[in-house]
Amino acid sequence: MTQLNNIVHTALLLAGTVAAGGCKTFPASMDEYSAGFKQPEPPLVKSEFTTSFVQHKWNENVSHIAAGFITNSASKGVVHVDLAFDGSLASSVFNYANVTDEGLVDNTVTTLLPNSTTLDVWQDYVNPNFPIFPEDILVQSDAVFSGLVDKKFLTYPVAAWSIMYQGVIPTTVYVDNTGMLVGYDYFSPGLRTRVITEFFNTKATA
Ligand SMILES: *[C@@H]1O[C@H](CO)[C@@H](O)[C@H](O)[C@H]1NC(C)=O
Ligand SMILES: *[C@@H]1O[C@H](CO)[C@@H](O)[C@H](O)[C@H]1NC(C)=O
Ligand SMILES: *[C@@H]1O[C@H](CO)[C@@H](O)[C@H](O)[C@H]1NC(C)=O
Repeated sequence: MTQLNNIVHTALLLAGTVAAGGCKTFPASMDEYSAGFKQPEPPLVKSEFTTSFVQHKWNENVSHIAAGFITNSASKGVVHVDLAFDGSLASSVFNYANVTDEGLVDNTVTTLLPNSTTLDVWQDYVNPNFPIFPEDILVQSDAVFSGLVDKKFLTYPVAAWSIMYQGVIPTTVYVDNTGMLVGYDYFSPGLRTRVITEFFNTKATA
């Protein structure tokens, strides 16, 4: 290609990128490098949604990657996660209507064991790695705006909000300009554990 062709080609690519994220732009007041920046108030988020996801959890002993589908229903107090990992299939239901004083959550896991047609059903209180997201989670948590960031599976920037989940887990929640959650990251200092979760194919259901 000639240099001119290259320039035109690059311009078209850039135009395509802008168009893809065109309806997902934030005001200059939320651009942390803009002269017009002013710290925004935490938004309400959509609390009834479905999404595809990829999650990686790691610490000194564990590297666990799962992919699947999440249904978040704050009105029912339920997070339902269907996931595939390491040759296993599992369906995990977190019942946030049944929690202990310490914040442990009732969890029922149905697992299709590897190389088997047998379903294993297990239920107990757990420290959940799939939080529930009520509409006012960022408001109630006094979320701190952490800037606009790019995500792996999205073609437009999203807002990062930092909270202390349950007052103890440093968590960053990613939200697009329509209040749709598009992922979250957290780390547990005690266990020196990091968890990153990316959403895509995300859809409000109410
Ligand atoms: C499942 O079956 C495959 C092929 O027969 C075998 O290679 C693998 O080790 C088995 N996995 C388990 C967890 O038994
Ligand atoms: C609450 O969760 C515990 C732990 O999983 C379970 O044993 C109990 O049956 C649940 N209670 C109700 C009412 O669902
Ligand atoms: C990792 O495994 C070691 C040896 O079993 C154990 O002492 C340590 O507590 C484990 N770390 C975590 C974060 O579970």
